[in-house]
Order: sequence, then structure tokens, then C-alpha cells
Amino acid sequence: MADGDNINDIIDHKLFTEEDIHNMCVRLGKELTKDYACKKPIVVGALKGAVYFLTDLTRQMDVAHQLDFIDVSSYGDGFESSGKIKVITDLSADVKDRDVLIVEDIVDTGLTMKYMKDMIHERGANSVKCCALLNKEARRSKDVTVDYYGSKVGDEFVVGYGLDFLNMYRNLQYIGVLKSEVIQKYVNK
Ligand code: XMP
Ligand code: MG
Repeated sequence: MADGDNINDIIDHKLFTEEDIHNMCVRLGKELTKDYACKKPIVVGALKGAVYFLTDLTRQMDVAHQLDFIDVSSYGDGFESSGKIKVITDLSADVKDRDVLIVEDIVDTGLTMKYMKDMIHERGANSVKCCALLNKEARRSKDVTVDYYGSKVGDEFVVGYGLDFLNMYRNLQYIGVLKSEVIQKYVNK
């Protein structure tokens, strides 16, 4: 059984290779370059999962922008959402009258993204959109628009390229489906 120490051992199968991810960043970067021309947006990275995607995506965007971060957590026990949102680190920028683009690793139930979008709207932003690498549409319970995304994914727990299990395995260069035995090992503890 995979003990989780060797990070490649915990993967059941690969979903997206480094090349797939690069191609998503290039495509999204082109769309965002067109849509945000002359807007000087504030690009907000949702910590911690979006960090890897954010650095690759923004380098494909040929638009002047400012960077900020937010850390909003809904995950109570590592992989199932607690359903409650906690702002761990707030934005440092004043978003009033600004165009804001939230960058996220994955939108699952939509709870976290809806909370972030509503909060930034309430602070008087001119526009609030989001770009998620992955869109787990099948599990959506909140009515929230994922304005830009790299790919849809099914109802599987994925890790790598920023996505984590228990705050680990973010540094895999590809995105893979976590072995069910790794989840079971944790659940049965
Ligand atoms: P909600 O349910 O609020 O959750 O849309 C969004 C957050 O849940 C995490 N998440 C995952 N993380 N693999 C992960 O590593 C997954 O398959 C997964 N599904 C949801 C993620 O942190 C996201 O920001
Ligand atoms: Mg996240």
C-alpha cells in the first residue's frame, strides 16, 4: 500500500500532463489578454492551491495587472468541505472601482468561489470574475459562474500542480487522481 512518502506512489492515474496544463495556461492567457486589455485588473490568487497556476497563467497574460492574495478555507478535514467559510488571510488591496480576477485551482461545490466573489462585489469592485484551472461541475451546489476554466473534471479527488491532499502533494508537476486507498487510510484513522 502506498504510504504517501513517495509522491508519485499515491497517484492512481494521470489526468493532465505538464503539456496539457501548459496548453490550458496559454489558451486562458490569450483570452484574458483580450478581455482585460487596458483594465489594469487586480489578479487575486486563492491560497494555497492556486499558486502554481497563478504564476504560469499570469506569465501568459500580456496585460499590466496587480497581484494580491486571499486565503479562504472551507475544508474542515482535508478533502470534504466543512460547509463553513473562514477568511484566513484577507486581501491587502482596495478593490473599490477595480476589475478583479480571482484565480483558483478548482471550483467544486462553488461555496468558496461564491463567498469570495460576493465579498469583493460588496467592497465595490467594478467587476469580479474568476479563472479556475479545473471545474468540478458535477458537484456544484452554489449558483456561481466560473467565467474561465482550463478543463472540466469529474467527481474524483485530484492532486498535483497546487492541488493538495492534507496540504501535501501540491508539487507534483502533473495532475492525477488520488488512489482511493490513500483516502481510506486517512478516513480510517
Ligand atoms: P468548494 O467546494 O468551496 O471548494 O468549491 C473549493 C476548494 O476545495 C478544494 N478541492 C479540492 N482540492 N482536489 C483538491 O486538491 C480536489 O479534487 C478538490 N476538490 C475541491 C480546493 O482547495 C478548492 O479551492
Ligand atoms: Mg483552493
